[in-house]
Amino acid sequence: MAKKILLSGIQPSGALHIGNYFGALKQFVDMQDEYDTRVFIADFHALTTVQDKDKLSSGILNIIMDYLACGLDPKKVVLFKQSDLPEVTELTWYFNCITTMPFLERATSYKDANQKVKEVTVGLFDYPMLMAADILIQDADIVPVGSDQKQHVEYARDTAQKFNNIFGETFKLPVAKIMAEVAIVPGVDGRKMSKSYGNTIPLFADSAVVKKAVMSIVTDSKTPDEKKDPETCNIFALHKLFLHGDELDNLRKRYLDGGLGYKESKDMLFDEIEKYFTPMREKRKMYEENPGLVLDILKEGKSKIHNLVNSKITDVRKAVGVQLYDN
Ligand code: ADP
Ligand code: TRP
Repeated sequence: MAKKILLSGIQPSGALHIGNYFGALKQFVDMQDEYDTRVFIADFHALTTVQDKDKLSSGILNIIMDYLACGLDPKKVVLFKQSDLPEVTELTWYFNCITTMPFLERATSYKDANQKVKEVTVGLFDYPMLMAADILIQDADIVPVGSDQKQHVEYARDTAQKFNNIFGETFKLPVAKIMAEVAIVPGVDGRKMSKSYGNTIPLFADSAVVKKAVMSIVTDSKTPDEKKDPETCNIFALHKLFLHGDELDNLRKRYLDGGLGYKESKDMLFDEIEKYFTPMREKRKMYEENPGLVLDILKEGKSKIHNLVNSKITDVRKAVGVQLYDN
């Protein structure tokens, strides 16, 4: 039986952090054997916020190296960049023509952007349709993402249904896959860890930078001796990503009993992070020293993904009525 299709992507809009890793990337890696996995770099999405060519180009290369260093295997997974698949922007246009403005005005991402900037661009407004096209062109069954992206996957489902109603059965309805325990990884200030909040613990940075971020995690002002509530502690929330079973239970107990200071808890967390990510950092260094290898992986991804979506886009062109002869 053919494997189910998994699709996901991350924007190259800044250095990846441990929230991106546990909320998204780790899931892609863990599922790459079970699914027909396709992971891309959402560079057209990033263009809604990154408008500096050097920054965007280096962001793309950084993400592909992050993907590889974290364990995505180009022999098993198709790794590609969104801009290498122009069929996606074509499909976005078909979706734009069946989607209403009020429907897009309901998107949380648009509402947030609307509050932050004076005049939202058309690209940002249309973000969910580009994302729907990413997903639907692949016939994706599952889309692993952090919980903040759930609404966007629902937009893709709704758009698939709308298209199918108007033009006939064409698209499969995708489902978001969200890991409950890592749905929202908190940042050093306790809000959701996000590139845009400047509250991240970076995935691939020098130890000194990681240490500084860990030491800046906000806590209450309890002294080491006082009893502490692990469930309201930002440091503990991050320990949960690295410790399991007895190790986590022991730490929980030390919080509840008192005697464990926040400084010690942060030192422990720093060691856990270093231990976990050091092998990946070493792997990443290998790719940094071999940029040709990285570009070859992207070029191969481009041709593979193009072949994979070819029949779908033909079906779509036929469904809407623009396909009059074979290309
Ligand atoms: P950011 O908010 O840092 O800009 P992105 O929007 O680029 O992150 O998200 C990339 C992927 O990582 C998405 O699947 C998103 O849901 C996931 N993700 C981002 N931040 C977190 C977080 N703090 N906890 C869990 N998942 C996250
Ligand atoms: N919007 C996603 C994010 O910010 C990135 C993305 C774009 C995506 N297209 C996608 C994720 C398709 C999954 C599937 O994280």
